[in-house]
Amino acid sequence: MTTVLITGANRGLGLEFVRQYQDKNVIIHACCRNPDAANELNALADNSGGLIKVHRMEVSDPSQVSSVADALKGVSIDRLINNAGILGTIIDQPGNSAFGNLDYNVWEETMRVNVLSPFRICEAFVEHVAASDEKLMVFLSTHMASITELADGGFYPYRSSKAALNLVIKGLSIDLKDRGVRTLALHPGWVKTDMGSQAAAVDIPDSIAGMKDVISGFKAPRTGEFINYDNSPIQW
Ligand SMILES: NC(=O)c1ccc[n+]([C@@H]2O[C@H](COP(=O)([O-])OP(=O)(O)OC[C@H]3O[C@@H](n4cnc5c(N)ncnc54)[C@H](OP(=O)(O)O)[C@@H]3O)[C@@H](O)[C@H]2O)c1
Repeated sequence: MTTVLITGANRGLGLEFVRQYQDKNVIIHACCRNPDAANELNALADNSGGLIKVHRMEVSDPSQVSSVADALKGVSIDRLINNAGILGTIIDQPGNSAFGNLDYNVWEETMRVNVLSPFRICEAFVEHVAASDEKLMVFLSTHMASITELADGGFYPYRSSKAALNLVIKGLSIDLKDRGVRTLALHPGWVKTDMGSQAAAVDIPDSIAGMKDVISGFKAPRTGEFINYDNSPIQW
């Protein structure tokens, strides 16, 4: 059996990861911050014969992160998918994260959710991942955070948070190498989710199908890479 843990699994890319990973040989731990309202996720879990388990996890709440890690003590996790994230910008008002017009509280919250939280989750679950066969920690990053390929400004909270996340991903690939734990930064494309908006270029199922292929092709000892959903490399 393969075991996958996904954060932010109640909608968008996280929910589609759950849908597409469903298989009789896969156990899915689907985390979301409000399971009572996660109707689509609960319906998948109810029909999964116990293979999809829903957990409450607000990723920026240390006690909720550690209580899921404790509940899963002794469970090995092959793929830990750090998907939950926020844009820190109202999508149709991009000016609110532009120079001269920033809400610093929003910026701090964006750093907390997009950088500190996945790091804390990695600390909490490192033993679970190290005990697995694949030993892979996946992170949803974005092409918008590539410093080398940056072509325009704006979206400072989001871009800076994901650029910091990229540093964390690369750093963890070094720190965790001795334990065999590997890291992978993925760009899902610009996808038609609530975050990406309906103006986006890529449909949710296509993005997830592409990322699943990238993940399954990302074999040990590969670690610390930044890859697009179409399997092309992205420069940090
Ligand atoms: N869509 C794109 O074009 C695109 C492009 C590049 C990267 N990404 C990245 O892909 C990931 C998923 O994005 P998406 O497009 O699916 O976004 P989305 O539609 O806005 O969904 C975000 C998910 O993250 C969860 N979440 C947000 N803050 C959370 C918190 N503090 N604790 C727990 N869960 C939290 C949300 O839960 P609630 O429903 O409870 O709010 C929701 O399930 C993000 O990391 C994003 O940065 C997306």
